[in-house]
Amino acid sequence: MRVLVLAMALMVAPVAANAAGGGGELMDANVDVHDRQSLQRGAKLFANYCMGCHSLKYLRYNRVAQDLNIPEDVVEQYLIWDGSKIQSTMTNVMRDGDAQDWFGKAPPDLSLTARAKGSNWIYTYLNSYYRDPDQPTGVNNLLLKGTSMPHVLWRQQGIPELVHKDGEGGSESDQEATKLKVPEGAGTLSSSEYHRMTRDITNFLTYASEPIRPARERMGVWVILFLLVFLGVAYLLKREYWKDVH
Ligand code: HEC
Repeated sequence: MRVLVLAMALMVAPVAANAAGGGGELMDANVDVHDRQSLQRGAKLFANYCMGCHSLKYLRYNRVAQDLNIPEDVVEQYLIWDGSKIQSTMTNVMRDGDAQDWFGKAPPDLSLTARAKGSNWIYTYLNSYYRDPDQPTGVNNLLLKGTSMPHVLWRQQGIPELVHKDGEGGSESDQEATKLKVPEGAGTLSSSEYHRMTRDITNFLTYASEPIRPARERMGVWVILFLLVFLGVAYLLKREYWKDVH
């Protein structure tokens, strides 16, 4: 029995740890690495909008094809832009030096970001851009002040304005009293569509930070089932052995 309780505790622990990693003001990305359609959309979006600058140096294209149930020729057509082989890792063609020159800071590899900063952090980051003419990129970010990453999804979201809660234009020094508001019709997506888009990308990056996880969790269920069956057998065996000892 003790073994069983321990096994269950071990299974629940990582989930609890993830949930605790959020931090107060982060938005909830609601990621689900078992939602394969979301992961498929996220992979495509990542290849389209992020891979120009960011790599996933531990993840191979054929691994993505297998895990996300995408035929390899589809991966080659929609995810690989630089003629890489399907066995290659998802690294991009931009040279670090170029990126450094353009952004003042090299775009980091995003392999472990979902684990290091949390999925909710990534989601909140993508939802915290606002117009700021004082920045070289024309935008700033409530979560990562002065970020050197442009608002790459501005066409989809539109560029939010920073406003006071009472509706007046605001300044960033007064963060408590501010929120973001996208001008009507500024983006090609509705706000809920943009949330779904950024959730899919976040979900994909969550998967990418630990590709083994869905398989491991499925395995966990089988382990528990096995232990339950084993417990039953052990109990019957014990009864059988002790039956005549009296
Ligand atoms: C034009 C180049 C470029 C593109 C395209 C781009 N990024 Fe970035 N990204 C950057 C740079 C530069 C930084 C470093 C920003 C900083 O630290 O101020 C960054 C930082 C980040 C970070 C923070 C990582 C960390 O640990 O601090 C995340 C997360 C991120 N990008 C996600 C994305 C996603 C998701 C996309 C696609 C929707 C994307 N980026 C597209 C240039 C880019």
